Amino acid sequence: MAQLWGGRFTKETDQLVYNFNASISFDRKLYREDIEGSIAHVTMMAKQKIVTEEEKQVIIDGLKGILTDVENGTLAITEEYEDIHSFVEANLIDRVGEAGKKLHTGRSRNDQVAVDMRLYVRKEVLAVDALLKDLLKTLMKLMEEHIDTYMPGFTHLQKAQPITLALHIGAYFEMFKRDRLRLNDIYERMNYCPLGAGALAGTTYPLDREYTAELLGFYGPTQNSIDSVADRDYIIEFLAALSTIMMHLSRFSEEVIIWNTNEYQFVELDDAYSTGSSIMPQKKNPDIAELVRGKTGRVYGALMSMLTVMKGLPLAYNKDMQEDKELTFDAIDTAKGCLALFNGMVSTMRFRKQVMAKSAKNGFTNATDAADYLVNHGVPFRDAHTIVGRVVLYCIEKQIAIEDMSLEELKSICPIFEADVYDAISLKTCVDKRLTAGAPGREAMEKVIALNKKYLEENE
Ligand code: ARG
Repeated sequence: MAQLWGGRFTKETDQLVYNFNASISFDRKLYREDIEGSIAHVTMMAKQKIVTEEEKQVIIDGLKGILTDVENGTLAITEEYEDIHSFVEANLIDRVGEAGKKLHTGRSRNDQVAVDMRLYVRKEVLAVDALLKDLLKTLMKLMEEHIDTYMPGFTHLQKAQPITLALHIGAYFEMFKRDRLRLNDIYERMNYCPLGAGALAGTTYPLDREYTAELLGFYGPTQNSIDSVADRDYIIEFLAALSTIMMHLSRFSEEVIIWNTNEYQFVELDDAYSTGSSIMPQKKNPDIAELVRGKTGRVYGALMSMLTVMKGLPLAYNKDMQEDKELTFDAIDTAKGCLALFNGMVSTMRFRKQVMAKSAKNGFTNATDAADYLVNHGVPFRDAHTIVGRVVLYCIEKQIAIEDMSLEELKSICPIFEADVYDAISLKTCVDKRLTAGAPGREAMEKVIALNKKYLEENE
């Protein structure tokens, strides 16, 4: 057992207690951040003459040595240490002796872990953002490719009106774009440095917190020493953003699963992104989409756990907060994995345009346009709705589409119908005429694509 706090104890910690308390098995992930934070701390202490320049250099060399050895595998982070902070400090003292014992001056593990987690989460916010950006690029490509790919639009999973694949994909583009905005907001709010808050009440050493914050790339120091060590809001915000990303991925996954069914056949998944069955030779299953949908629950779980961990904690630090790590790390790794795989799946998926267009024509998706035709010929919309309802009923009995009816048949229901109705309710017209901002008609779609391309260029 390697602990930092044996002085006031007369007995060894019970082994089970030690194991229960220890966090090294998971906070080992923070070794880089712990070392980075320590280098900034000691650099600041030298500037403030709390340690000498020589001591600073010895400590920094020692810390860099630990980093190199961990990265190249010659130094293992083993479970004999209580946590990553003990591991780094004990190793430092082993390497550099007396000077190493000064590193923890004016610092507590409370502000140390607070800065480690912030550095880690900050880096991951950017990593998730980069994956979202990659996905947006894939979606942009699909939008440009499929401005004229017709498909049915749905409400209640019932065919509603014809749309294009570009519009449907574009809906997800907007969602993931907002997800990036959320990450950006989180970054802006969280990018303040808690180091120097000490255990909870600052310290009597003349620390320059502005300087430490600057060294670590933060906008500045946090404003309240208690809040600095007690705040995990940014983690909750990040988990909420990850949950929303997963929710979006999960909805999209559900659609890929539906589109990939034998009944729909809108898409064919690439062999590299689907799996077979051990018993049914014909199977090609959308496992990636299903796993993304399934893993969404895991990320939501992390958010709920974290909210619950924090809800009853008196200020300032409490050991409960150590629970933030495993679930945050897991949620981040899960979401990142899902984003990468989902992107691969969607970018290799083949859209079966003919099947989609045929489906867009079936199911009376042009009924609204037939009613709009009558409105354009002076019929009030409510009456037009009733008339076309009768037209649809007629077609259902005859098992035909509206455009399959002869003009006589149409006129027998409403004499206002003329020969130009066929053009007015064709799939192409139904889509092309929808030109309101944000609608699927080509001109409207091209405008949105241009705006979003500009967004992608400006938001690296
Ligand atoms: N492993 C602890 C955590 O993750 C580090 C902080 C320990 N602080 C303390 N006062 N025991 O929260």
